[in-house]
Amino acid sequence: MTESVQIPELMDRLEYGPAPEGAAEVRRWLEERRAFGHFIGGRFVDGSDHFDVANPADGSVLARVAQGGPDDVDEAVRAARAAFPAWAALDGHARARYLYAIARQVQKHARFLAVLETLDNGKPIRETRDIDIPLVARHFYHHAGWAQLLATDPELRDQRPVGVAGQIIPWNFPLLMLAWKVAPALATGNTVVLKPAEYTPLTALRFAEICREVGLPDGVLNVVTGDGDTGALLVRHADVDKIAFTGSTEVGRIIRRATAGSGKKLSLELGGKSPFVVFEDADLDSVVEGVVDAIWFNQGQVCCAGSRILVQEGVAERLVHKLRQRMERLRIGDPLDKGVDIGAIVAPVQLERIEGLVEEGRREGAEIWQPSWGCPEEGCFYPPTLITGVSPAATVAQVEIFGPVVVLMTFRTPAESVELANNTPYGLAASVWTENINLALDVAPRIKAGTVWINSTNLFDAASGFGGYRESGFGREGGREGLWEYLVPAWHTEGPDPGDADRPAADNAGRADRHGEPGPDGDAEVDDGGPGPDGTPAVDRTAKLYIGGKQSRPDGGYSLVVRGADGRRLGEVGRGNRKDVRNAVEAAHRALPGWAGAAAHTRAQILYYIGENLSARQAEFAAGIRAATGETEAAARAEVDAAVRRLFAYAAWADKWDGAVHHTPIRNVTLAMPEPIGVFGVACPDAYPLLGLVSTVVPAVAMGNTVVALPSATAPLTATDFYQVLDTSDLPGGVLNIVTGPRAELTEVLAGHYDVDALWYFARDGGGEMVERLSAGNMKRTWVDRVPRDWSDPARAEGPEFLRHATQPKNIWVPYGA
Ligand code: NAI
Repeated sequence: MTESVQIPELMDRLEYGPAPEGAAEVRRWLEERRAFGHFIGGRFVDGSDHFDVANPADGSVLARVAQGGPDDVDEAVRAARAAFPAWAALDGHARARYLYAIARQVQKHARFLAVLETLDNGKPIRETRDIDIPLVARHFYHHAGWAQLLATDPELRDQRPVGVAGQIIPWNFPLLMLAWKVAPALATGNTVVLKPAEYTPLTALRFAEICREVGLPDGVLNVVTGDGDTGALLVRHADVDKIAFTGSTEVGRIIRRATAGSGKKLSLELGGKSPFVVFEDADLDSVVEGVVDAIWFNQGQVCCAGSRILVQEGVAERLVHKLRQRMERLRIGDPLDKGVDIGAIVAPVQLERIEGLVEEGRREGAEIWQPSWGCPEEGCFYPPTLITGVSPAATVAQVEIFGPVVVLMTFRTPAESVELANNTPYGLAASVWTENINLALDVAPRIKAGTVWINSTNLFDAASGFGGYRESGFGREGGREGLWEYLVPAWHTEGPDPGDADRPAADNAGRADRHGEPGPDGDAEVDDGGPGPDGTPAVDRTAKLYIGGKQSRPDGGYSLVVRGADGRRLGEVGRGNRKDVRNAVEAAHRALPGWAGAAAHTRAQILYYIGENLSARQAEFAAGIRAATGETEAAARAEVDAAVRRLFAYAAWADKWDGAVHHTPIRNVTLAMPEPIGVFGVACPDAYPLLGLVSTVVPAVAMGNTVVALPSATAPLTATDFYQVLDTSDLPGGVLNIVTGPRAELTEVLAGHYDVDALWYFARDGGGEMVERLSAGNMKRTWVDRVPRDWSDPARAEGPEFLRHATQPKNIWVPYGA
């Protein structure tokens, strides 16, 4: 070579040499086993109908794994059930020791697990070695800590494990998703039947061996392999108490419907189309590295992948240029090679899906850009892809592609960036890039997502909760927030309170006689209240609905006769219909931004004021309750008094239901902010017509939600009297709407309504199944209360249990410290 070569030029030409990680030990382990059975009751049992598990980087078969059938699932659930009492009763310190031992063992076998994961999934060894496996160990350490603290932590010590947890995990982070699910379940005293994804079951099977090695009691962890059919068997099994699922929104919906009415606790971590918002003052070089982590990490097969870049117009061109330069330098290839950035897509079917969606983008007129280099010929590889020229409604801008494909759109103002960011049914994560802290912290609360990263992306830690808003699912994994998925208040498991004051007239007793047939409004019988003092007929009283802060006539013009406990006619209430519910939901939506954005102190003041005004009318409300329920004077007065106390309690909570600051990895703090969920539907209990309404509606309102309430079906007039109190109490119109009428019909409308975000069901008439099934449409947060609850007992009818259901935590990762 005669020409003189400059160093920068040389660096450009320099080819990487291959740097493969050794896989001999893992291959030997696979060779020795070849065909895996299920792990049930502490041992591997032979399975039948084995299927191949392949290495997506070259298509070679790694092992054969059993397809779990009904008997296998049943046996595993029985083993978990048998192990549950002893595991739940075990001293927290002893459970901590097991989790600690698992964490240590994961660390000791970290290299093995990283190689096995890379072979099975196709993700680069750099990621499994530096991210997946260290985080797995971190989760077990962190949760060993929770096991230790459970009995003494003031908030947790009155909680109990749920029972047998069925856990179904996806293939994108096989061992990490196992850790996210298994660690909190075991720490809190539950036993587990886990079903790994069919493409990537191998690290779960190696993990089962680790559990055996550390002496975890038999049956505490069981692993049944198989595909979606096996998962469905687990979901439907009658003796499973809780289902935890991570995967597609489509399957999440199926599971929501399949578990409806079963009483199983459910958490769903589903898909996303997460915005990656770049303002023009952002450090664009950091942004470029951020995009690499956001969408090319794990080949973009990440539920919270930053798959929609939203960039401020002024810097869009520069960013596109820089991104293309960086993409040219990404390395794709053998995932075991330590110098490789992008590995293989998990399976041919996923590759086809990605190809199909990108083609769809091309057909819709988008510009598709890929680097000049080609992918390996063999194996499932797809190049990093940048799509520009898309409209927000385009398929590629809306659908989760789950591959190394990112779309880029522009915006002009912060308000527009928020609008675009929220223009998706999902709400899993977002990242915000700007050097202006005011702007970052102004935008973060406005984006509807469970996690927001400021000037960073795809950061995870066991100390922080992770989970979705909207159709990205519900429930959290990680930290204290995640423990609630595996716990129930101790009194739920203890049966009815011996002093349970549930009233005999509660629930549906006597409803048919007390709730008359509808008649055209204005054509009602004269009230049985009898003639007035001068012999004139009593003034007819027909309560209206309460929508948007106004009394409104029911759309259909019909009303229902309400009778008292003694059969006497008390008056009439409006017979609300579909249209009325829709109007109420609209009113609640209009009121939401103002109410959710109001200072907690303001909300508290208004609730105190409602309490004050209710207290002033105690005698009148007590008389109404007496007439409706047949209770004694003293009991009716006590109910009004308890309702006033409850209003004060939630006024007190309004500015005290704080978030938390999590100690996530260095250079970050994570702010866990409890945010309102949105518009609620609440079907109130029948018993305690006033206290039941206040107890179920006010916690949601106190937290900044707006509500459409369906009051007690047996005694609705108390609720319609209550809106007169609201009218005099400064509550903004639309924050609390009251619709009377046939509960099943009205609930059905609320459950199917796409603009209702949460639905609580406290009625005891079997409507809960419908609520959970229909709510799957937009993945509403549902709470179907199935425990006997004494509404007069604050320990069982007030406080954190309600507030947790009324809020969702948003975790905002903020750079912090040196
Ligand atoms: P999937 O949702 O079908 O699979 C996830 C897990 O659910 C697997 O263990 C599977 O066996 C199980 N499963 C499937 N059907 C089931 C059923 N009816 N009942 C119970 N369990 C069932 O995801 P898939 O088909 O592997 O991927 C399709 C798309 O889903 C991806 O392209 C991606 O968009 C999305 N996805 C999202 C994930 C996330 O983390 N949010 C993870 C995996 C996939």
